[in-house]
Formats: sequence, C-alpha cells, structure tokens
Amino acid sequence: MSNKSTPTERRIILKNADDPNYSNKIGCYLREGGYSMLKKSCKMKPEDIGAEVLKSGVRGRGGAGFPAGMKWKFLDRKSGKPIYLICNADESEPGTFKDRQIIHKDPHQLIEGMMIAAYAIQAKQAFIYIRAEFFEGARILESAIAEAKAKGFCGDKILGSDFSCDLVVHRGAGAYICGEETGLIESLEGKRPNPRIKPPYFPAVLGLYQCPTIVNNVETLCNVKHIMEIGGDEFAKIGKPNNTGTRIWCVSGQVKKPGYYEFECGALTLGEMIYDVCGGLLPGRSLQAVIPGGSSSKILRADERFSGKLKDGTEFDWGVEDIPLDFDGPMAAGTMSGSGGIIVMDDTVDMVEAMANINAFYAHESCGQCTPCREGSLWMRKITQRMCDGGAREEDADLLLSVANQIEGRTICAFGEAAAWPTQSFIAKFRDRFEEKVKNPERKKSSLQLI
Ligand SMILES: Cc1cc2nc3c(=O)[nH]c(=O)nc-3n(C[C@H](O)[C@H](O)[C@H](O)COP(=O)(O)O)c2cc1C
Ligand code: SF4
Repeated sequence: MSNKSTPTERRIILKNADDPNYSNKIGCYLREGGYSMLKKSCKMKPEDIGAEVLKSGVRGRGGAGFPAGMKWKFLDRKSGKPIYLICNADESEPGTFKDRQIIHKDPHQLIEGMMIAAYAIQAKQAFIYIRAEFFEGARILESAIAEAKAKGFCGDKILGSDFSCDLVVHRGAGAYICGEETGLIESLEGKRPNPRIKPPYFPAVLGLYQCPTIVNNVETLCNVKHIMEIGGDEFAKIGKPNNTGTRIWCVSGQVKKPGYYEFECGALTLGEMIYDVCGGLLPGRSLQAVIPGGSSSKILRADERFSGKLKDGTEFDWGVEDIPLDFDGPMAAGTMSGSGGIIVMDDTVDMVEAMANINAFYAHESCGQCTPCREGSLWMRKITQRMCDGGAREEDADLLLSVANQIEGRTICAFGEAAAWPTQSFIAKFRDRFEEKVKNPERKKSSLQLI
C-alpha cells in the first residue's frame, strides 16, 4: 500500500461531466466557452493544426497508443480521393467504460474535437461509429449534432468559412470486432465486419470506400480541442514525455470504489489507484491479480517483480503496485495499458473460471476469417470450460499454451493477439491453479464475471 497522500484527479476531458449544473445540451457547452477552439481553428491553416497535434505527442486512447499526429501525417492527401474521419465509439473491450461517459455527459466536446480534426485533415464527411448497444448514446449524439448544425458548428460552411463537413452517427453491428478499425470500416460500408489485412489496407491510405481515412477513438478526438486551447508544446508538458495528457482509467472488479478516474499520465501507480483512489480491496481480501488494460492485456500476478530500463534510460525495479499508470509503465512490465480498463481480482477469484470467462468472450467474438483464431479461440474456450466442469486433464495447461502460441502472429488482425495473450499470461503466471483443477476437479463458482 502507498504511503503518499491520495493523488488527485486532473479532469480535462471529464471536467464538466459530473457537474450537477451541467447537461449535455449545447447551451451548457457554450456557456463553458465551447466551440471557441473550432472558431480559432477554422482561421488557421489545416496543416498548422496537424503540427500542434504532432507536437502534443498525444497517443491514441483506443488501445494501441499510436501517436495521433503521426497517424494524421500518414494520410494520403495526394490521391485526389475524398478524405474521411471516423470516430471509433465502439468501446467493446471488456473492462472499458469511458467513451460512453463522454458521449452521455459532454457530447459537444467530442463534436468540437471531431470538427477541428476534420478541418485539419480536410475531411468533408465524418462519422461516429457507435456500439450497437449504446441506444441512449446514439440518441444523445444525434440530438447534439442537430444542435451543432443549427448553430453552424458542423454541416455546410462551418462558421461562415468555406469548409463544410457533414457528421453522421452510424449505429454499430453489435460485435467486438466492429471496434477493430478495418472491421469497423467494413461494417460502415454495410458489410460483415471482417477485418482487412495491413498492409495494404492501412486506413490512412486505403480506408473507407478505399479512400484515405483517419480512425480515432472518442477520448483521442476530445483531446484535440484541448491541444488547440493550450498549444501542442504546453499539452506535451501534461503527463510525462512520450505519455502526454491525461488518461481516463476505468476500474472494475473487487475494489471498494470502482469507477472512471482521469489522471495525468504517470501521475500515480497501479497501487495508488487501487488502494488510495478506489478505496482498496473488500474487507479481509488480498490482491491476487490485475488485468491493466482491458481483457486483451496480459494479466499481472500480485507478487510479480519487474526490472529493467525504460526507453529514456531510467532503471526500474517494480512490484505490481509500483507500475506507473501511463503507456510505457505497463509496457515495461510486459503488458499494456490498452484501453485503460483496469480489472482488479482479489484472492476469492478462481483463475481458471476467470480464464474460461475470457475465452468464452473471444470464442464468441472471432469473426472467423483466420483458421488459427476461429478454431483456436473455440478450442481454448472448450478446454477451459471443461476444466471448470470437473474434466481437467494433466496436459491441459500445456495444450492451452500450445493453442494460444499458434494463434499469436498468425492472423489478419490483432484480435489474434487479444485472444492469445490472456491464455499465455494466465498459464505463465497461474499454472499452479490450472494444475490444482486436475487434483481437485469440483466446480467452484467464481465471484468474477467479465462478460
Ligand atoms: C479486436 C480489437 C478491438 C478494438 N476495439 C476498439 C474499440 O472498441 N474502440 C477503439 O477506440 N479502438 C478499438 N480498437 C483499436 C482500433 O483498431 C484503432 O486502433 C483505434 O480506434 C484507433 O484510434 P486511436 O488511435 O485514437 O486509439 C480495437 C482493436 C482491436 C484489434
Ligand atoms: S484474427 Fe480473428 S477476428 Fe481478426 S480477422 Fe482473423 S478470425 Fe477475424
């Protein structure tokens, strides 16, 4: 447990989100100075906005953590084809629930960020691809877009300029793979969301309708407005080098105060988040494991230690609770911050049950294009389910590992890794629990349900 004082949130994206005097209507947003950054941006050269985003160092908040400014630079502007902007609001990674908060509580912040981004990349058509199950979120966005159009903030000749950009909400198809950017694009085109192979189908070159397309996460696009407000250099001072800005962390599992919290990148450690911010574990429980970035990220065992050198040359020697909450910290510990979904597991969790739960999710969500993913995810589900049902065999841990290893790196999209990494890390770190299932085969119900 940390001895330091409780770290305080720094709310930039969620600044107004939980203010009882704030609503998602445009009046509230304008009262807070909303759309003034769009006004400022429309008077700038589009490439100068891109330069600010590049300087800010802001990394994508959807999972991969790729720098947004660099992605925008890769956009093929010479093709003469239309350019599209897509906001990825699919938020399908188990353990993640931040984008929906922004959409429900401050939709105009997203619309302003998107319109600035659309102007910067000169996209005349923009989409918000929202998860199918977010009925209310889609309704709120549609109503906010109508308000913004009526005031000239999107649509024809934005704020009297020569720039026009239509913004449309597209309801998703209800599958995890619709969150993968090329699957999303296929779905937006009206097809089954089968991911495309990269190369050649990098969206910035061959995206929607084979045209240059930028796909960014909700939280990433909201940051664009704040970058324009203070400039890329100032933004880069928030957080840490290579880990700039704030991040919204979603904490679930067995802590006293689960929820979403926004902190400067690297301002606190995983232990501080669990014990100081989230009030610690339930009475009488001890920490068993943490999944730090949504169910696809590799699990951390509570008693693990990590040592080495960070990219900037700093040496580190951490226990799990010392891992800094940013992009590079979890990566140095052999996992990732992914979509910011921190899942805390105490000593009551049956790790084989938890594994079975995660495997059931991936087996259900595989699009089926690649044999290793389609068959492998199903086998992993069957094996872990059988283990939970009292039929564990001695060879199961190795069998699971062998299946997972044959998925990783052999598929069209990163879903293959998303499905393989949980199994690989659970077996590596909790092999004793899998062996225990062979010796003690009775079914035990886990208190943790990931899906
Ligand atoms: C299986 C899979 C599911 C994904 N789901 C989401 C998602 O729900 N939301 C999201 O923003 N990104 C998701 N991503 C990442 C997107 O492919 C893409 O990298 C991201 O939308 C880019 O935005 P960013 O650069 O702003 O993070 C997923 C990736 C994979 C491989
Ligand atoms: S890795 Fe899985 S989800 Fe991705 S394309 Fe292949 S079968 Fe589909």
